[in-house]
Amino acid sequence: MPVLKTMFSIQETQNSKLSSVDWENLAFGKVFSDHMFEMDFENGSWKTGKIVPFGPISMHPAMSAIHYGQSIFEGLKAYRFVNDQVVIFRPEMNAARFVNSANRMCMPPVPEDIFVEAIRKLVELDKNWVSGKEGYSLYIRPFLFATDPLVGIKPAETYKFMIITSPVGMYYSEPVKVKIEEYYARASKGGVGRVKAAGNYGASLYPAKQCQIQGYHQLVWTDAIEHKYIEESGTMNIVFQIGGKLISPTEESDTILRGITKRSVFELAQSWGVEVEERKVSVEEIVQAARSSTLEDAFGVGTAATLAQIAIIGYRDEQSHLPPLETRILSNKLKNHLSGIKTGIVDDTFGWCFKI
Ligand code: PLP
Ligand code: COI
Repeated sequence: MPVLKTMFSIQETQNSKLSSVDWENLAFGKVFSDHMFEMDFENGSWKTGKIVPFGPISMHPAMSAIHYGQSIFEGLKAYRFVNDQVVIFRPEMNAARFVNSANRMCMPPVPEDIFVEAIRKLVELDKNWVSGKEGYSLYIRPFLFATDPLVGIKPAETYKFMIITSPVGMYYSEPVKVKIEEYYARASKGGVGRVKAAGNYGASLYPAKQCQIQGYHQLVWTDAIEHKYIEESGTMNIVFQIGGKLISPTEESDTILRGITKRSVFELAQSWGVEVEERKVSVEEIVQAARSSTLEDAFGVGTAATLAQIAIIGYRDEQSHLPPLETRILSNKLKNHLSGIKTGIVDDTFGWCFKI
């Protein structure tokens, strides 16, 4: 995209913080790289974007995003190939989802080419922050929020699009314990569950905290009407393996986020001839399969966690232990192959890695 390359102004920091990073003790999302991207929407159009040293931003106390939650975000990662090439995993997919999120939240979409180019330029500038150590990556967080200084409730007229990046290691250090939730709901039909609206995450904290008090890592969300059908797990899509087949809740419902990791895992599995099924998945089916040991595997898939195998599924007072990790041939292979693609060890035959 040569035309776009000159469209942002760039102010480089004179004071890199890179040498102060404690790489062995990186908590997810706590450390930020040297630069950030900012672009304002005013008078009906996007202004010139700029890359500036990372730092605080000022805000009006009536800023509409704080009061009414017109705020959306994305999450994607940059990786370092073994040959040192830095790549971004499928950014065009996040660009498209960001447009959908903006439309649903009545916000001006960021043009997809600008979204991708802003990320590319930012990561290029901070490429030394992309660690090549196993399990490490640079988490990229684009976000868009309403900035009108107005307590009146209406779609705002001014917005800010920003991108910050954060070096991260593994999200979960062990297989996860999840609990099937039968009271709280993440999303309802007609709501905003399909998009990455900030409020979805705020609303999930209390239910997640309740299950964490009981010793679980995350919830398995079920449908808001009957709590009979499985939807997702925490901030991951969920996949089950029964009879050698991969099964996952259908994204037809507008209550489930259309995950890029799940799409990639399914495309990969299908390319190996594995049967995949996206359909309604009932709690009953999974609980019965776990009880009768026909549930061969279950795992969550998402950008932050990549592929997180599930150790225990809790349902009411019952806990089902899933088979030992070494027997989970398919999910282990998917996890390793996906990581191989992102680090240049395995050929990127799908063209998923966007070179900066
Ligand atoms: N579901 C929810 C609610 C999420 O927040 C995420 C994370 O982005 C996912 C699923 C997985 O999506 P992706 O694989 O695109 O990161
Ligand atoms: C992601 O995987 O990008 C997420 O959305 C998780 C994040 C909320 C920590």
